[in-house]
Amino acid sequence: MEGLRSSAQINKALADEEKATKLIRAQAHIWNHLFNLINSFSLKCATQLGIPDIIHSHGKPMTLSQLISSLPIHHSKTPFVYRLMRILVHNGFFEVQKLDESDGEEGFILTDATRLLLKDNTFSVTPALLAMLDPALTQPWQHLSTWFQNDDRTPFDTAHGMGFWEYAGHNTRFNKQFNDAMESDSRLVTSMVMEKCKGVFEGLESLVDVGGGTGNLAKAIANEFPHMECTVLDLPHVVGDLEGSKNLKYVVGDMFEAVPSADAVLMKCILHDWKDEECVKILGRCKEAITSKGPKKGRVIIIDMVIENHKGDDESTKTQLLHDMLMMNLLAGKERSEKELAKIFSDAGFRSYTVNPILGLRSLIEVYP
Ligand SMILES: C[S@@+](CC[C@H](N)C(=O)[O-])C[C@H]1O[C@@H](n2cnc3c(N)ncnc32)[C@H](O)[C@@H]1O
Repeated sequence: MEGLRSSAQINKALADEEKATKLIRAQAHIWNHLFNLINSFSLKCATQLGIPDIIHSHGKPMTLSQLISSLPIHHSKTPFVYRLMRILVHNGFFEVQKLDESDGEEGFILTDATRLLLKDNTFSVTPALLAMLDPALTQPWQHLSTWFQNDDRTPFDTAHGMGFWEYAGHNTRFNKQFNDAMESDSRLVTSMVMEKCKGVFEGLESLVDVGGGTGNLAKAIANEFPHMECTVLDLPHVVGDLEGSKNLKYVVGDMFEAVPSADAVLMKCILHDWKDEECVKILGRCKEAITSKGPKKGRVIIIDMVIENHKGDDESTKTQLLHDMLMMNLLAGKERSEKELAKIFSDAGFRSYTVNPILGLRSLIEVYP
């Protein structure tokens, strides 16, 4: 009958609608991924403009017009601030709160994530944010597919014509920015290590932090254990100009050549920078360092991610997978599973190890000769 649809027609209409919905969802999924970099750069922009600190100093919800008048921006840009804030609110970096009950006016407040971007927060991750989103580190991503087709070590090498550590050695600004980023990461890890696993260092008379950067973690250990001789081994452009203290010294060296002898070797964020065979080499040097005095009481203490070794929530898995891609892009390294780590420990001649998944996404691993 004219005007009434048959059940076959209705079913077809429903199927078409479902198909269209799926298509739109698929497109949105792709859009969200291809525009992910807008999230990163909006956050970088807000941090560079000092928005978290400005709202924090205000001490109460800050209205858009108050924020605009406090920002170091050109007057022609005032209409755009709302749009920047809107996406950052959507992404969980700010919240909107009523100024008071009687008034409908709203203001921005910080979230836990933005508090981690404040300048005077001891655990501020701003140096890491600025380093990771520096053009020197974003450019290699443009070369990922080219790298898959050439024999360069990393996309970083393809982009810059040299390896990461060599580039840091040649570029003072980048070297400082990267070392600051590592230091900011170390501050949080150091406080967790000292709170949760200080016992690991008890009884040691000496320790070498291999690739210890500017020495944040080693300094904390040296302060906590004044009778322990602590050494930070790193490249000349990282530790060449640094002054030690009573029980902490900086040594310029190459961990592939030699590691100073000590009761224990510490390595934070080192193995994930390197290929398996290179890790075996580094671990071989560490083994010589901890057994050179004879008795086998020594050990290697590693702080790194262990893939799969997390509480299993989606966000943690994503963070670990992103880190793994980062290592591939910059350094030819990788984030490893426990099985992969066990293999390199055994290939380097170590007999046993323990894994303590007590540092959030990172674990503390003790490896014994
Ligand atoms: C990812 S950073 C980790 C720094 C520090 N352990 C931390 O977690 O804050 C890696 C460090 O290894 C150092 N490094 C790279 N190649 C090295 C080598 N051949 N010998 C000694 N250190 C090296 C780098 O200079 C850098 O400080």
